[in-house]
Amino acid sequence: MEAKHDVLIVGAGCAGMRAAIEAFDAGADVALLSKIHPVRSHSGAAEGGINAALGNASEDDPETHAFDTVKGSDYLGDQDAIQILCDEAPGDVYQLEHWGAVFSRTEDGRIAQRPFGAAGAPRTAYAADITGHVLVHVLYEQVMKREIPAYEEYFAWKLVMNDDRCQGVIAWDLLKGGLKSIGAKTVILATGGAGRLYVGTTNAYSCTGDGMALALDVGVPLKDMEMMQFHPTTLAPTGVLITEGCRGEGAYLLNSENDRFLKRYAPNAMELASRDVISRAEQTEIDEGRGVDGNVLLDLRHLGPDRILERLHGTRELSMTFAGVDPIYEPIPVRPGAHYHMGGVDTDVWGLTNVEGLYAAGECACVSVHGANRLGGNALMETITYGKRAGRHAAEWALANTTVEVPPSTEADAQRELKQLLARTQGERPWKIRDELAQTMHENFGVFRREDQMDRQGEIVAALRERFERVVVEDKGHVFNNDLTQALELGFLLELAQCMVVAGIARKESRGAHARPSDFPDRDDEHYMKHTLVMLDDDGRPELEWRDVTVTKWQPQERKY
Ligand code: FUM
Repeated sequence: MEAKHDVLIVGAGCAGMRAAIEAFDAGADVALLSKIHPVRSHSGAAEGGINAALGNASEDDPETHAFDTVKGSDYLGDQDAIQILCDEAPGDVYQLEHWGAVFSRTEDGRIAQRPFGAAGAPRTAYAADITGHVLVHVLYEQVMKREIPAYEEYFAWKLVMNDDRCQGVIAWDLLKGGLKSIGAKTVILATGGAGRLYVGTTNAYSCTGDGMALALDVGVPLKDMEMMQFHPTTLAPTGVLITEGCRGEGAYLLNSENDRFLKRYAPNAMELASRDVISRAEQTEIDEGRGVDGNVLLDLRHLGPDRILERLHGTRELSMTFAGVDPIYEPIPVRPGAHYHMGGVDTDVWGLTNVEGLYAAGECACVSVHGANRLGGNALMETITYGKRAGRHAAEWALANTTVEVPPSTEADAQRELKQLLARTQGERPWKIRDELAQTMHENFGVFRREDQMDRQGEIVAALRERFERVVVEDKGHVFNNDLTQALELGFLLELAQCMVVAGIARKESRGAHARPSDFPDRDDEHYMKHTLVMLDDDGRPELEWRDVTVTKWQPQERKY
């Protein structure tokens, strides 16, 4: 064993760093471990803002925030977890401000808040359109101030299970090569999402669902994995995020007939309806021939150059760089793209899983505050509030418990498995399987779903998993062997895809991101107001269970915007 810690956090984006700070302040010996440098984490790509009922720009309170979130989740979110998020959010945002987060301001100096989709009040605090970037840097400053060590460019490959609890991580050292085992009394997974399951996604190349797959492999259920959110405005053709903040500032969505088509889908909220509603509306327009080269148009021109330059300068730069379009003068071509996994590692409201010593927070976790459809701006808030809670709980547990051991047999098994993979000289290249996976997930498990397509996708994923058994890593070297890590990531993605398909087929209704207009067009609360939980059996096959949603005070209602 290389080292040991009270709390080891895998992933160093907003959730991971917030957890590290909290655990450190509680007195624990903490370390971060990440396959990329912390400030390059995908949290930095979050643009539009973070939701808290600060009530700075209008009347708002945590109760209204909670109700909007419950309704937004299409009544699949757990109401106790949502209430915690909304109650703790204002204090957590002020904490970020006191640490130096440079939020945009109102005329009189308070934190500015903009309207976001499906929110009853302007609730999204923002730093222009680079909010995630700002938060990542503020948190990294706090990590450095505390001198919290980081295993940077370490790829977490396996969790160490010993004595029925998680006691560390086995990781590949990207810089120097070699497997390293790092012992820990508690491990917090904060590795983000798995958007790379899809060909069109806002997610960075690093978003390969590592933490979800690691947890699944040690017996933790993955919850609501069928719920992949498609963001309505991803830039054509790259999939780069064009923030909801544009619509918060007043941008329109237009079809090829120059029509604000949302009046037919969400007549009250229009461009500020929830993401699932808008993505379906766009996809319908495109499918029915009213798209523009497979896209719709996001029009900012009427906002005027001053507002665009002040509040949406990042959007302008992205549009010009990646699509050659200056939104001051032309509408931006956009389409729905895979953005956020509402599902993930099943945890309680402290981030604890069913495995002692193992926690999860942020997008890789499902506590669940987003249910079947997340509200824009609630993800950054979840990273902070639930990162903090996981860090605190893990530290308290670690400080009350003493032993850590990585059994030599665990290390030896991992070494053997890796050696076998690297020894293979003939076989298929990982990228080929990965491209097929991403393409077919998009086609068969996208904005709209059908039983026959999901069945087909199940067969495709099974065949890809078989081909993966013969995958060949051509680079046999030790230094920055991306060929190796991409093969390992592909293994993770394939495991997650099979869980998603199994859960999707089982959910015979339409709810939030899971839309089955042709066979089960309606929400069915009687049978499916339940979470899906997928685990692996002894042969590695997915098994599905159901769990009731926690309802505290909001009974399900018809959802209209
Ligand atoms: O559109 C956005 O700025 C994304 C925000 C989010 O996903 O929360």
